Amino acid sequence: MTPGQPEQAPALEITDLNVRYGPVHAVRDACLTVGAGQVVALIGETGSGKSSLALAAARLLPSSAAVTGQVAIAGRDVSALGGSAFRRVRASLLGCIAQDAMAALNPVVPVGRQVGELFAVHAGMSRPQAAEAAVAALAQVEIRHPAAVARLYPHQLSGGMRQRVMIAMAMALAPPLIVADEPTTALDVSTQAEILALIGELRARMRSGFLWITHDMGVVAELADWAAVMYAGRIVEQGPVDVIFDAPAHPYTEGLLATRRDLRSGAPGAPLFQIPGSPPGPAELPPGCPFAPRCPRATATCTEVDPPLEPAGSTGGHEAACHHPGTGADQKAGAKVAAAEAGAAEAGDHLGTAGTVTL
Ligand SMILES: Nc1ncnc2c1ncn2[C@@H]1O[C@H](COP(=O)(O)OP(=O)(O)O)[C@@H](O)[C@H]1O
Ligand code: SF4
Ligand SMILES: [Mg+2]
Repeated sequence: MTPGQPEQAPALEITDLNVRYGPVHAVRDACLTVGAGQVVALIGETGSGKSSLALAAARLLPSSAAVTGQVAIAGRDVSALGGSAFRRVRASLLGCIAQDAMAALNPVVPVGRQVGELFAVHAGMSRPQAAEAAVAALAQVEIRHPAAVARLYPHQLSGGMRQRVMIAMAMALAPPLIVADEPTTALDVSTQAEILALIGELRARMRSGFLWITHDMGVVAELADWAAVMYAGRIVEQGPVDVIFDAPAHPYTEGLLATRRDLRSGAPGAPLFQIPGSPPGPAELPPGCPFAPRCPRATATCTEVDPPLEPAGSTGGHEAACHHPGTGADQKAGAKVAAAEAGAAEAGDHLGTAGTVTL
């Protein structure tokens, strides 16, 4: 920051967020900040509450969801806004990139009109100006022949092209926050790489902050500044990406990283590390730490007292919810032990329930 400039408000600041669907407590007491221009990765197994958290931040949850807590976007408390007031400001505050662009786009409207609508409604442009701005927005996401593509319907585009259109729409008004829910999961590997490169470039140019849900630790390593790990509705660990990768404190994060390491460097034919067991259903959480039934470090305290999220180590904001947080050294040793245990479990040992971690 240049001396004398006011400090920029965070792109997103979530405080004590809870999301409930009837008896299902999908997000519990989440606090998370996405700094201006920062990419925050949200990681965790299916059902851990990632989408509920992100959709609550974007105010896109169905009315059946009960949401409490504060959400501020670019310093503006949007949790206090009524539905219609929020809809008026939404496009200028945040853009969303969904996993399934086909479902997110309107199938009966040409894509150029869909992009142009944003400029017409939220930037006060005339229809011809908005159409021109839409073609420019499609060009910016590196769609070739953007004027011709603007006239096509979503089903006439490839998956990668549709995702580029979604990115163009999300970034059209250069909002301070982009929420991306597994935006590359549905794409083939080479298209994924192109889209990631594009987002990396746009991010540098536009200075939007990203809340990025992904199950791909490679993406986290490449793009993210900060990582937050969710388990059973809670953020159980968060910190700068380097710290999370080099010295994770929570055994669950260690397990996720060991899975990735094995995928990249495991000897051919060697068993992959697996986190034994499966996560608890959000309506039937065990007492104490919800990870205890799967945790190699669990003690009696763990099964009685749910650990709070607390500072872990001394490095810039790193936090973990664990009674026995590890260090980087523990992690390397722990991964070996756990890998051996998972192997033993496959051979019929007491762990018995070993299952592949499903993100
Ligand atoms: N609309 C909904 N109605 C009822 N339960 C839901 C709804 N959306 C999600 N859930 C439940 O909330 C929990 C968290 O889901 P979700 O936020 O989608 O997790 P993730 O994105 O990590 O897979 C899951 O148990 C899921 O079944
Ligand atoms: S609190 Fe105990 S059971 Fe939970 S993750 Fe930490 S060591 Fe494992
Ligand atoms: Mg999800």
